[in-house]
Amino acid sequence: MKKLDMLYEGKAKKVYKTDVEDVYIVDYKDDATAFNGLKKGTILGKGVVNNKMSNHLFRLLEKEGVPTHYVEELSDRETAVKKVEIVPLEVIVRNVSAGSFAKKLGMEEGIKLISPTLEFSYKDDALGDPMINDYYAIAIGIATREEIDRITELVFKVNEVLCKYFAECGIELIDFKVEFGRYHGQIILADEISPDTCRLWDINTHDKLDKDRFRRDLGNVEDAYQEVFKRLGIK
Ligand code: C5P
Repeated sequence: MKKLDMLYEGKAKKVYKTDVEDVYIVDYKDDATAFNGLKKGTILGKGVVNNKMSNHLFRLLEKEGVPTHYVEELSDRETAVKKVEIVPLEVIVRNVSAGSFAKKLGMEEGIKLISPTLEFSYKDDALGDPMINDYYAIAIGIATREEIDRITELVFKVNEVLCKYFAECGIELIDFKVEFGRYHGQIILADEISPDTCRLWDINTHDKLDKDRFRRDLGNVEDAYQEVFKRLGIK
Protein backbone atom coordinates (compact mmCIF):
# COMPACT_ATOMS: atom_id res chain seq x y z
CA MET A 1 0.00 0.00 0.00
CA LYS A 2 1.35 3.43 -0.95
CA LYS A 3 1.11 6.42 1.40
CA LEU A 4 -0.04 9.40 -0.68
CA ASP A 5 -0.91 13.04 0.21
CA MET A 6 -1.59 14.07 3.79
CA LEU A 7 -5.29 14.86 4.13
CA TYR A 8 -5.39 16.18 7.63
CA GLU A 9 -3.16 16.84 10.64
CA GLY A 10 -4.88 16.71 14.01
CA LYS A 11 -3.58 17.22 17.54
CA ALA A 12 -2.27 13.67 17.89
CA LYS A 13 -2.50 12.09 14.43
CA LYS A 14 -1.92 12.65 10.74
CA VAL A 15 -4.15 11.05 8.12
CA TYR A 16 -2.94 10.15 4.61
CA LYS A 17 -4.61 9.07 1.41
CA THR A 18 -3.49 5.75 -0.09
CA ASP A 19 -3.60 4.06 -3.46
CA VAL A 20 -6.23 1.64 -2.12
CA GLU A 21 -9.88 2.60 -2.47
CA ASP A 22 -11.63 3.48 0.80
CA VAL A 23 -8.42 3.01 2.86
CA TYR A 24 -6.50 5.74 4.69
CA ILE A 25 -3.31 5.57 6.75
CA VAL A 26 -3.25 7.04 10.26
CA ASP A 27 0.14 8.12 11.64
CA TYR A 28 0.25 8.63 15.43
CA LYS A 29 2.38 11.48 16.86
CA ASP A 30 3.94 12.01 20.30
CA ASP A 31 2.32 15.47 20.55
CA ALA A 32 -0.07 15.91 23.44
CA THR A 33 -2.65 18.62 24.02
CA ALA A 34 -5.22 19.20 26.73
CA PHE A 35 -7.94 21.70 27.59
CA ASN A 36 -8.96 22.20 23.96
CA GLY A 37 -5.38 22.84 22.84
CA LEU A 38 -4.48 25.34 25.61
CA LYS A 39 -1.87 22.99 27.12
CA LYS A 40 0.69 21.52 24.74
CA GLY A 41 3.55 19.07 25.20
CA THR A 42 5.20 15.86 24.08
CA ILE A 43 4.85 12.40 25.57
CA LEU A 44 7.78 10.36 24.26
CA GLY A 45 6.71 7.05 22.79
CA LYS A 46 3.00 7.91 23.05
CA GLY A 47 2.39 7.52 19.31
CA VAL A 48 3.62 3.93 19.39
CA VAL A 49 1.58 3.04 22.51
CA ASN A 50 -1.61 4.64 21.16
CA ASN A 51 -1.26 3.05 17.73
CA LYS A 52 -0.54 -0.47 18.94
CA MET A 53 -2.96 -0.32 21.86
CA SER A 54 -5.84 0.93 19.69
CA ASN A 55 -5.17 -1.82 17.16
CA HIS A 56 -4.95 -4.48 19.87
CA LEU A 57 -8.29 -3.37 21.34
CA PHE A 58 -9.99 -2.95 17.95
CA ARG A 59 -9.01 -6.53 17.04
CA LEU A 60 -10.47 -7.73 20.35
CA LEU A 61 -13.67 -5.73 19.81
CA GLU A 62 -14.05 -7.07 16.25
CA LYS A 63 -13.90 -10.61 17.68
CA GLU A 64 -16.67 -9.61 20.11
CA GLY A 65 -18.89 -8.40 17.27
CA VAL A 66 -18.15 -4.65 17.27
CA PRO A 67 -17.38 -3.41 13.73
CA THR A 68 -14.34 -1.07 13.62
CA HIS A 69 -12.31 0.90 11.08
CA TYR A 70 -9.20 -1.25 11.70
CA VAL A 71 -7.62 -2.81 8.58
CA GLU A 72 -3.93 -3.53 9.21
CA GLU A 73 -1.02 -2.37 11.39
CA LEU A 74 1.70 -1.12 9.02
CA SER A 75 4.40 -0.02 11.46
CA ASP A 76 4.86 1.07 15.10
CA ARG A 77 3.06 4.33 14.38
CA GLU A 78 1.05 3.67 11.21
CA THR A 79 -2.18 1.81 10.62
CA ALA A 80 -4.40 1.32 7.60
CA VAL A 81 -8.01 2.14 8.41
CA LYS A 82 -11.29 2.21 6.55
CA LYS A 83 -12.23 5.62 5.17
CA VAL A 84 -15.22 6.65 7.23
CA GLU A 85 -17.33 9.78 7.45
CA ILE A 86 -16.90 10.70 11.10
CA VAL A 87 -20.10 11.38 13.06
CA PRO A 88 -19.08 14.62 14.85
CA LEU A 89 -19.86 13.34 18.34
CA GLU A 90 -17.56 12.49 21.24
CA VAL A 91 -19.28 9.51 22.80
CA ILE A 92 -18.32 9.20 26.47
CA VAL A 93 -19.10 6.32 28.83
CA ARG A 94 -18.35 6.48 32.57
CA ASN A 95 -18.22 3.70 35.15
CA VAL A 96 -16.67 5.67 38.03
CA SER A 97 -16.92 9.39 38.88
CA ALA A 98 -13.97 11.45 37.61
CA GLY A 99 -13.06 14.50 35.54
CA SER A 100 -15.77 16.83 34.29
CA PHE A 101 -18.54 14.57 35.64
CA ALA A 102 -17.21 14.72 39.22
CA LYS A 103 -16.69 18.49 38.93
CA LYS A 104 -20.14 19.17 37.47
CA LEU A 105 -21.91 17.18 40.17
CA GLY A 106 -19.69 18.23 43.08
CA MET A 107 -18.71 14.60 43.61
CA GLU A 108 -15.44 13.11 44.73
CA GLU A 109 -13.53 11.17 42.09
CA GLY A 110 -13.47 7.38 42.40
CA ILE A 111 -17.11 6.68 43.29
CA LYS A 112 -18.45 3.63 41.46
CA LEU A 113 -21.61 4.60 39.56
CA ILE A 114 -24.76 2.54 40.03
CA SER A 115 -24.91 2.06 36.27
CA PRO A 116 -22.68 3.27 33.42
CA THR A 117 -23.53 6.72 32.02
CA LEU A 118 -23.52 7.89 28.42
CA GLU A 119 -23.01 11.41 27.16
CA PHE A 120 -22.43 13.11 23.82
CA SER A 121 -20.35 16.17 23.02
CA TYR A 122 -20.61 17.97 19.70
CA LYS A 123 -17.11 17.86 18.14
CA ASP A 124 -16.41 21.54 17.48
CA ASP A 125 -13.14 23.09 18.68
CA ALA A 126 -14.40 26.66 18.31
CA LEU A 127 -17.37 25.92 20.59
CA GLY A 128 -15.24 23.85 23.03
CA ASP A 129 -17.06 20.56 22.27
CA PRO A 130 -20.34 21.38 24.09
CA MET A 131 -22.27 18.57 25.73
CA ILE A 132 -25.49 17.84 23.84
CA ASN A 133 -28.12 15.11 23.98
CA ASP A 134 -29.56 12.75 21.39
CA TYR A 135 -32.42 15.16 20.55
CA TYR A 136 -29.95 18.00 19.83
CA ALA A 137 -27.87 15.67 17.61
CA ILE A 138 -30.95 14.66 15.62
CA ALA A 139 -32.36 18.22 15.50
CA ILE A 140 -29.19 19.72 14.01
CA GLY A 141 -28.70 16.85 11.58
CA ILE A 142 -25.57 15.26 13.07
CA ALA A 143 -27.11 11.79 13.15
CA THR A 144 -30.42 10.02 12.72
CA ARG A 145 -32.37 8.31 15.51
CA GLU A 146 -31.35 4.93 14.07
CA GLU A 147 -27.67 5.93 14.10
CA ILE A 148 -27.83 7.23 17.68
CA ASP A 149 -29.50 4.00 18.80
CA ARG A 150 -26.84 1.90 17.06
CA ILE A 151 -24.03 4.04 18.57
CA THR A 152 -25.60 3.59 22.00
CA GLU A 153 -25.86 -0.18 21.56
CA LEU A 154 -22.26 -0.44 20.30
CA VAL A 155 -20.67 1.83 22.90
CA PHE A 156 -22.17 -0.10 25.83
CA LYS A 157 -20.89 -3.32 24.23
CA VAL A 158 -17.44 -1.68 23.92
CA ASN A 159 -17.64 -0.75 27.62
CA GLU A 160 -18.57 -4.30 28.63
CA VAL A 161 -15.73 -5.89 26.61
CA LEU A 162 -13.12 -3.34 27.69
CA CYS A 163 -14.04 -3.36 31.41
CA LYS A 164 -13.61 -7.14 31.50
CA TYR A 165 -10.38 -7.12 29.50
CA PHE A 166 -8.73 -4.26 31.42
CA ALA A 167 -9.70 -5.86 34.75
CA GLU A 168 -7.88 -9.03 33.68
CA CYS A 169 -4.80 -6.80 33.17
CA GLY A 170 -5.13 -5.19 36.63
CA ILE A 171 -6.64 -1.96 35.32
CA GLU A 172 -9.99 -0.34 36.10
CA LEU A 173 -11.70 1.44 33.18
CA ILE A 174 -13.01 4.62 34.81
CA ASP A 175 -14.33 6.31 31.66
CA PHE A 176 -13.53 6.72 27.97
CA LYS A 177 -14.35 8.62 24.80
CA VAL A 178 -14.82 7.05 21.38
CA GLU A 179 -15.95 8.22 17.96
CA PHE A 180 -17.98 6.48 15.31
CA GLY A 181 -18.06 6.77 11.53
CA ARG A 182 -20.27 5.85 8.60
CA TYR A 183 -18.89 3.23 6.24
CA HIS A 184 -21.06 2.05 3.35
CA GLY A 185 -24.21 2.86 5.32
CA GLN A 186 -23.03 1.13 8.48
CA ILE A 187 -22.00 2.71 11.81
CA ILE A 188 -18.52 1.49 12.84
CA LEU A 189 -16.10 2.32 15.65
CA ALA A 190 -13.35 4.73 14.53
CA ASP A 191 -10.60 6.98 15.95
CA GLU A 192 -8.59 5.44 18.83
CA ILE A 193 -8.77 3.83 22.27
CA SER A 194 -5.69 4.71 24.28
CA PRO A 195 -4.47 6.33 27.51
CA ASP A 196 -5.20 9.65 25.72
CA THR A 197 -8.89 8.82 25.50
CA CYS A 198 -9.54 6.62 28.55
CA ARG A 199 -9.11 7.00 32.30
CA LEU A 200 -7.27 3.90 33.44
CA TRP A 201 -6.52 3.35 37.12
CA ASP A 202 -4.51 0.60 38.76
CA ILE A 203 -7.18 -1.75 40.09
CA ASN A 204 -5.61 -1.95 43.58
CA THR A 205 -3.69 1.30 44.20
CA HIS A 206 -5.91 3.52 41.98
CA ASP A 207 -2.75 5.09 40.51
CA LYS A 208 -3.60 7.00 37.35
CA LEU A 209 -2.19 5.34 34.20
CA ASP A 210 -3.50 7.80 31.60
CA LYS A 211 -3.42 11.32 30.19
CA ASP A 212 -4.58 12.88 33.48
CA ARG A 213 -0.88 12.60 34.48
CA PHE A 214 -0.15 15.11 31.68
CA ARG A 215 -3.28 17.24 32.17
CA ARG A 216 -2.69 17.59 35.93
CA ASP A 217 1.15 17.67 35.92
CA LEU A 218 1.37 14.51 38.03
CA GLY A 219 4.75 13.39 36.58
CA ASN A 220 5.80 9.95 35.27
CA VAL A 221 3.62 10.45 32.18
CA GLU A 222 5.72 8.29 29.82
CA ASP A 223 6.03 5.56 32.47
CA ALA A 224 2.25 5.37 32.82
CA TYR A 225 1.73 4.87 29.06
CA GLN A 226 4.45 2.18 28.98
CA GLU A 227 2.93 0.46 32.04
CA VAL A 228 -0.47 0.12 30.33
CA PHE A 229 1.25 -1.18 27.20
CA LYS A 230 3.14 -3.79 29.26
CA ARG A 231 0.09 -4.90 31.24
CA LEU A 232 -1.92 -5.42 28.07
CA GLY A 233 0.88 -7.67 26.81
CA ILE A 234 1.13 -5.78 23.52
CA LYS A 235 4.12 -6.51 21.29
O1 C5P B 1 -12.95 15.46 30.86
P1 C5P B 1 -14.01 14.38 30.97
O2 C5P B 1 -14.18 13.87 32.37
O3 C5P B 1 -15.31 14.82 30.38
O4 C5P B 1 -13.47 13.17 30.08
C1 C5P B 1 -14.17 11.94 30.02
C2 C5P B 1 -13.35 10.94 29.22
O5 C5P B 1 -13.28 11.30 27.85
C3 C5P B 1 -11.89 10.81 29.68
O6 C5P B 1 -11.49 9.45 29.59
C4 C5P B 1 -11.12 11.64 28.68
O7 C5P B 1 -9.80 11.14 28.50
C5 C5P B 1 -11.94 11.47 27.42
N1 C5P B 1 -11.92 12.65 26.55
C6 C5P B 1 -11.23 12.60 25.33
N2 C5P B 1 -11.22 13.70 24.50
C7 C5P B 1 -11.87 14.82 24.83
C8 C5P B 1 -12.59 14.89 26.05
C9 C5P B 1 -12.59 13.79 26.88
O8 C5P B 1 -10.65 11.57 24.99
N3 C5P B 1 -11.84 15.86 24.00
